[in-house]
Amino acid sequence: MEQEILINKKNYNILVIGAGHVGLVTAACFAELGHNVICVDNDRQKIKHLNKLKLPFYEPQLDRLVIKNFKKRLFFSSSLEKNIKEAEIIFIAVGTPPLPDGSADLTSIENIATIIASNLNSYKLIVEKSTVPVHTGKKIKETITKYKKNDLAFDVASNPEFLREGKAIYDFFNPDRIVIGVETKCAEKILKNIYAPFKAPIVVTNINTAELIKHASNSFLATKISFINAISKICDLCGANVKKVADALGLDKRIGKSFLDAGVGYGGFCFPKDLEAFIYISKKLGYDFALLKEVKRINEEQKLYFVEKIKEKLWVLKNKKIAILGLSFKPQTDDMRFAPSIDIIGAFLSEGSIIKAYDPKAIGQAKKIFSKKDNIYFATNPYDAVKNCDCLCLLTEWEEFKNLDFKKIKKLMNTALIADGRNFLDKEKLQKIGFDYIGLGV
Ligand SMILES: NC(=O)c1ccc[n+]([C@@H]2O[C@H](COP(=O)([O-])OP(=O)(O)OC[C@H]3O[C@@H](n4cnc5c(N)ncnc54)[C@H](O)[C@@H]3O)[C@@H](O)[C@H]2O)c1
Repeated sequence: MEQEILINKKNYNILVIGAGHVGLVTAACFAELGHNVICVDNDRQKIKHLNKLKLPFYEPQLDRLVIKNFKKRLFFSSSLEKNIKEAEIIFIAVGTPPLPDGSADLTSIENIATIIASNLNSYKLIVEKSTVPVHTGKKIKETITKYKKNDLAFDVASNPEFLREGKAIYDFFNPDRIVIGVETKCAEKILKNIYAPFKAPIVVTNINTAELIKHASNSFLATKISFINAISKICDLCGANVKKVADALGLDKRIGKSFLDAGVGYGGFCFPKDLEAFIYISKKLGYDFALLKEVKRINEEQKLYFVEKIKEKLWVLKNKKIAILGLSFKPQTDDMRFAPSIDIIGAFLSEGSIIKAYDPKAIGQAKKIFSKKDNIYFATNPYDAVKNCDCLCLLTEWEEFKNLDFKKIKKLMNTALIADGRNFLDKEKLQKIGFDYIGLGV
């Protein structure tokens, strides 16, 4: 009966667990679509700030949606127990960080499953949005069944998230596809109702398959990046141009243009950890995913290769001043989790270089990450960063870096050397100004 009512609803009482990059976006966007949403997080400080409309991270357009829906259809709380009772659908969007062995840490997910079990007061659809290894849905179901204190029905579903940080709101409303892993018609119908306003194709499958789709997607994208980075090295060795190779490759519809930009490699909270977790779960299932191990190795090597190229030009790195432009793992975000800049700056610091770094949004995060390091300073603008430096390293392709006054920069620098870790700047123009230009495969 309860399920029948839910099947025929348009707007739901939604509980989103986790107010991070995925949870907060999911909560704000579902509220915007007319659902009644409570977003909970066990980080009390975060919730306190959100209740004062202070967002925990930078994401374009997110503040607008949060402000618009706050206390109308969007609420924040730090109490999970209290808010389960009213919820019809529960989206789990907590972090699944990597453990030292590469596997995903599912402690939060298990903990949430037990809390849901002891507070189950009506039928609920529990949806995994977090990226989790295959069989997690099965474990959530077993855990809730084990700990619940009544005969009430519930469903578990998988609905992996594919949004990109920096474009999260656009991606949420304009996904390429929506993946739904379900075990019952009721769960399928409810999720289809929720996603009814979207134009994207909906892939309905079982939970294991949906979980696997997310790991397979991220691993495939990481593979494309490592592939083109390997090609960039061959280009360096033989004098070919990786940009032209990528353009021509991308024109083949079977390959596609995206994720073929050579650079210092991928980072962020998804690719590195999801690749590790996929390698781990594959091994546990009995398959050695050697291809993905190589993808990871190429990615690590690429960062060191970039530093080596700079070292070749500067000879001794000790006491050399390096300007870093771009710290976040990609533009339009302040997220620095697993950003290539961390390893690259670390490599310079261990050689005794002095770093002056600038990023339009990520300096706050960077200050926390490098708080225990000496010889790293943060600039208030790109021109301040390059003053008296021996090399300018571009590590994140923020659009504003394209239009810098490079004639002015040349005058400010000690030596006119630019290392473009994203092949983003205009090599010919910089060479005309008098810069020595280092790229990757260009
Ligand atoms: N960031 C992305 O671009 C992205 C994209 C797709 C999928 N994902 C996946 O989504 C999941 C979340 O990623 P994220 O980037 O939003 O992480 P995040 O670290 O930004 O946010 C996670 C939030 O969960 C909260 N949390 C942790 N345990 C909790 C608990 N027991 N109860 C309540 N709150 C809890 C944390 O305090 C944090 O605010 C991960 O599995 C990630 O792989 C991330």
